[in-house]
Amino acid sequence: MTGKTIVLGIGGGIAAYKVADLASKLTQQGADVHAVLTESATRFIAPLTFTALTHNPAQVDLWPHETEASKSAGMPHIALADKADLILIAPASADLIARLAGGFANDLLTTLVTATRAPIALAPAMNPTMLARPATQRNLAQLQSDGFHIIQPDEGRMACEHVGSGRLPETPELIAQLEKILFPNRDLEGKRVLITAGPTRENLDPVRFISNRSSGKMGYALAEEARSRGARVTLVSGPTSLATPQGAERINVQSALEMRDATIVAFENCDILIACAAPADFRAANQATQKIKRGDSQIMHLELVANPDIVRECGTRKRPNQIVVGFAAETHNVEAEARRKMLEKNLDAIIANDVTREGAGFDSNSNAATFYSRSHQTEWPLMPKTTLASKIWDEVARLPTAKN
Ligand code: C5P
Repeated sequence: MTGKTIVLGIGGGIAAYKVADLASKLTQQGADVHAVLTESATRFIAPLTFTALTHNPAQVDLWPHETEASKSAGMPHIALADKADLILIAPASADLIARLAGGFANDLLTTLVTATRAPIALAPAMNPTMLARPATQRNLAQLQSDGFHIIQPDEGRMACEHVGSGRLPETPELIAQLEKILFPNRDLEGKRVLITAGPTRENLDPVRFISNRSSGKMGYALAEEARSRGARVTLVSGPTSLATPQGAERINVQSALEMRDATIVAFENCDILIACAAPADFRAANQATQKIKRGDSQIMHLELVANPDIVRECGTRKRPNQIVVGFAAETHNVEAEARRKMLEKNLDAIIANDVTREGAGFDSNSNAATFYSRSHQTEWPLMPKTTLASKIWDEVARLPTAKN
């Protein structure tokens, strides 16, 4: 971090206290840290805390006193906006997010954001209901499309005693996100990456289907990370509620058969496939065209037929310069099952996780996993899926193709 000027924009939320630790760690790592607090932030934490930790005067006022103003020709926001290598806004409150999405410049922090060319990261942290509000989500989507780097909040227990999504990530996670922006890794430049993500839906009749608990979060995080490293990304996605990662081409599918067709076509023109989707293993042998009636029966028999194994088919078709990576969500014998699947499906590597573990696997924001290639293995502890995506790409980008 030495030589980097980082502006910490602190919003009015209880998580502001955590940013003191971040300011301290960044300063210890050699960054030149400048804290800018909103008026509400000062209700939660004193500017003096940041002044002491960063050795730079923390600022709040857009209109500084004359003596201070004379030091920066009366425009501290312009001086800092020009100097910053990065601005991190944390915690970003619902109000601050709304003001930024609207382009407001009605205090020092929002004015600075409007005046800078530096990349801006934003870590929303608030009560889960406030975060889920359509207006907040709309504003975040707007900021993301305006080029802000949105840092996903953690899940857990909040200061307001609610449980859900909205916690400010811990300092090491925030620093990892800042490093990604400050020192972008372009090791996938020019690579064509294909990712399958999410569940599939196998219709039984016009209103019912078989599916599973896959949320698509891991696959979307992999797509996002591959994009930021310079890859051209195609995402074949089952039904999810997630936003398409910026710059990725997304092909929406419903059933495993549709996913198979889209994947096989896209696989022809890709360098690396990561099969992260959870396609249903079976589908109804006969799909009813009309809604199945309950009638008087107490038992219902469903006849199912196997779906194609998409990643196995890609493994079979694989050309020497292509890489195919699979996932294995297991409940027992994790390593043996993962290695067996890697060999049987002709994969270059497989990422295995124990889905019975608390906080990991399906529909969670975090995951713990082990990476197996033909030559080595790496174990990762529980971490946010976004961080795990970066670790997975570090490994996959180093995999040898049969050609090399
Ligand atoms: O055998 P299992 O379903 O556990 O293997 C998981 C891996 O296989 C994942 O990479 C998943 O995306 C892929 N898969 C597939 N087509 C299926 C089922 C699983 O590509 N029909």
